[in-house]
Amino acid sequence: MSVRIEADVADVVGPVPRRLFGSFVEHLGRAVYTGIHEPGHSTSDGRGFRGDVLELVRELGPTVVRYPGGNFVSAYRWEDGVGPDRPVRLDPAWHSVESNRFGLHEFAAWAEAAGVEVMYAVNLGIQEAADVLEYCNHPGGTELSERRRANGAGRPFGFRLWCLGNEMDGPWQIGHKTADEYGRLAAETARVMRMIDPDVELVVAGSSNAEMPTFGEWERTVLRHTAGLVDHISLHAYYQELDGDTDSYLASAAALDAYIRTTAGIIDEVGSRVGISVDEWNVWDQRRWNSTDQPQLVAGGWQEHPRLLEDTYDLTDAVVVGSLLSSLLRNVDRVTMANQAQLVNVIAPIRTEPGGAAWRQPTFHPFRLVSSLARGVSLRLGFEGDRIRTAQHSEVDLVDVAATVDESVGAVFLTNRATTTSTDVEIRLRGARFGVPAAETLTATGPVPLPGATATSDAKGTVITATLPPLSWTVLRLAAPDA
Ligand code: AHR
Repeated sequence: MSVRIEADVADVVGPVPRRLFGSFVEHLGRAVYTGIHEPGHSTSDGRGFRGDVLELVRELGPTVVRYPGGNFVSAYRWEDGVGPDRPVRLDPAWHSVESNRFGLHEFAAWAEAAGVEVMYAVNLGIQEAADVLEYCNHPGGTELSERRRANGAGRPFGFRLWCLGNEMDGPWQIGHKTADEYGRLAAETARVMRMIDPDVELVVAGSSNAEMPTFGEWERTVLRHTAGLVDHISLHAYYQELDGDTDSYLASAAALDAYIRTTAGIIDEVGSRVGISVDEWNVWDQRRWNSTDQPQLVAGGWQEHPRLLEDTYDLTDAVVVGSLLSSLLRNVDRVTMANQAQLVNVIAPIRTEPGGAAWRQPTFHPFRLVSSLARGVSLRLGFEGDRIRTAQHSEVDLVDVAATVDESVGAVFLTNRATTTSTDVEIRLRGARFGVPAAETLTATGPVPLPGATATSDAKGTVITATLPPLSWTVLRLAAPDA
């Protein structure tokens, strides 16, 4: 099998936004409790932040973290999580007991320790959203801002990014609405939020997945209502292997490309200029949630931080995650940010045991490599070569590719969708001289060097060759030959 890829360093899709490498912490299962927060753990600091997890988060390299939900947010009262009195409540979304020991101040402090920006999701209505924004961002002199100060945050948190609810198109969502109902509410909420803090960036909820019967019409309606009031529209996308159909699973990135481009087309059609916030994406075995986790959860009664959505990933999952990251890179002309859902324990690259270790899942490695290596601009790519027919996503390129360059360095991210054969790749990169100082390919335990990659360059550009192992995700690091 062989493919040829063409690019020109002057032909770019757009700059790579740092916010493309976001993540997500929801009050769900053990994401917060015994995930990022576990007072008494041997690595925890005085605030109960697990040091082993913080170290892994810094290594992973997320830039922005969405909080506190997800479905959780739609029954959440933010005031329960501030101040000395923390009521214990039912969390109906995940059939759990919420202790509220961890809340807004704790998350702001954790985000600072992790070096990430906060993306805060509000539970609509208008008053709830206005109040939490005033509490967080108003300097002082009002009841809410003084309460924040009394609770230990003298300076405003200054959160810029706010989500107007979560998956409001989904019948599973508490407070689910029609597109018209949601669009009106989101617009009125956005208006008052902008009055309180004109610097906020607002994300209106788009579709929960591309198969929603309302996909398309939902975006049109919501964008018309919120015209001029919001900055981004969300898009959520999860992928899984069904019935052992690995070929289709490996083609997930093509499905994400199509979902993003269709959403972009709708944004253009209604004359909007909003960006696309892919603020939940990942691989997730939802059959396990539906058939095992959820019935067990309900049968087990109401528990505090039960084990939920603790998917164990393998190399194929990691390869798909790598290709989904490439899809985001290919679409940076429209995608302004993205959040892998989620960060710890819940469908996550990092897992922990209470009182025990924290470790990297196979999906950790592609995220770490892309967040650290994808810099500068994403290149437009031409593809020639073998394609494969899949049951779910029709015909796709045999090799999925994204490439970024930043002056004298760059990276090419390659997914070989051939499951049993290696694939020879030739990349013709016009307009720059590069060498390939390192090439790595994923294994289940992490990346290993890939031997045999070559680069020859002249005044016109560089020709790179590599042989990709079957069912693999590979990164070629590029650097100016004399660097
Ligand atoms: O990430 C898990 C859940 O998936 C989120 O709570 C919800 O928004 C989505 O359906």
